[in-house]
Amino acid sequence: APYSLLILPGDGIGPEVMAEVTKVIDWFQTNRGMSFTVSHDDVGGAAYDRYGKPLADETMAKAQQVDAVLLGAVGGPKYDDLDFSLKPERGLLRLRKEMDLFANLRPAQCFDALADFSSLKRDVVAGLDILIVRELTSGVYFGEPRGIHADDNNPDNEGGRVGINTQRYTSGEIRRVARSAFELAKRRGNKVCSMEKANVMESGILWREEVQWVHDNEYPEVELSHMYADNGAMQLVRNPRQFDVIVTDNLFGDVLSDAAAMLTGSLGMLPSASLGAPMANGRPKALYEPVHGSAPDIAGQGKANPIACILSFAMALRYSFDQGDAAAELERAVEQVLADGVRTADLMGPEGGTPVSTSDMGDRIIA
Ligand code: NAI
Ligand code: MG
Repeated sequence: APYSLLILPGDGIGPEVMAEVTKVIDWFQTNRGMSFTVSHDDVGGAAYDRYGKPLADETMAKAQQVDAVLLGAVGGPKYDDLDFSLKPERGLLRLRKEMDLFANLRPAQCFDALADFSSLKRDVVAGLDILIVRELTSGVYFGEPRGIHADDNNPDNEGGRVGINTQRYTSGEIRRVARSAFELAKRRGNKVCSMEKANVMESGILWREEVQWVHDNEYPEVELSHMYADNGAMQLVRNPRQFDVIVTDNLFGDVLSDAAAMLTGSLGMLPSASLGAPMANGRPKALYEPVHGSAPDIAGQGKANPIACILSFAMALRYSFDQGDAAAELERAVEQVLADGVRTADLMGPEGGTPVSTSDMGDRIIA
């Protein structure tokens, strides 16, 4: 059966980078015998312009039915003054929430040709290939009670208010994201490091116990270690190659994945995937998107680097369609083009290179 895809290019450079992914999809259909049914729709500001809201109900329904959603980016100055509920990012948040995408995958991979773009020394990051799995639908960003209240019975509180958020995890929420991490590790280096703060947080103790439980009962063959998240931040910068898969909660994952991103260089290079529970056909609910935003400062100029979006499609090949060889082939093509010195503006360093447009970069990768 053909693989079904919903493409949501979104705003700013979203449509520009997605046009290059479309070329890649066509290439795999023509040259590797794959078959995709692709539908297109709007999200973010583009959806607001067309439907009056950042994600139409029909679009949401389509997203629930396809094997994978590919999203470009949302947002832009034109939409900054809209009501909170109409803002472009609400479209993205609705997709994540209603598809229940609880595992956010953020690879940090250092291409040799770009090692000098890293915030760290070349010899610390050369060959780096790690994957951070961040719990995305629970934890302190969602826990109740939350709010800002008057702190009435506390005369010693200068200002008189208190701000509250609650870190709350159920064992089931921890087990399902742990399973994702172990499954991913089996296809990679067979190693998981779980990060929390079990030394000072009850939710951290539960996290550690439940990850250990999933390991002992379901994945004893995968190597598991535990680390306090603050030490994890240090180790990521000191010796990131010690890790394979890192699994952590929503808040620590937010911070650690952004830190890990800077080990690899440009924002224009970073893909991501968000996965949910398996559907009837066994494939997980899935949304693939570059980490970067809509980059209004360069939109419409042919300057955007399409690699983050192309590598997000490589993740779709690997995780939604079980086409790991095709994913590796695409990643090798990217690596080769970078080794040849082909550079969009964001990748142009002091050593120079061949400057190319968004569309040239796509063509080079295909070639
Ligand atoms: P941004 O990621 O759009 O841009 C940050 C900087 O990186 C800019 O200088 C931009 O030109 C550059 N950049 C980003 N992607 C690039 C690429 N593929 N090639 C070359 N250069 C690239 O973040 P910013 O400027 O904070 O936000 C701009 C808009 O995007 C805002 O409306 C924001 O809300 C939205 N946004 C959307 C996200 C999403 O759709 N997931 C994520 C982050 C921001
Ligand atoms: Mg963040």
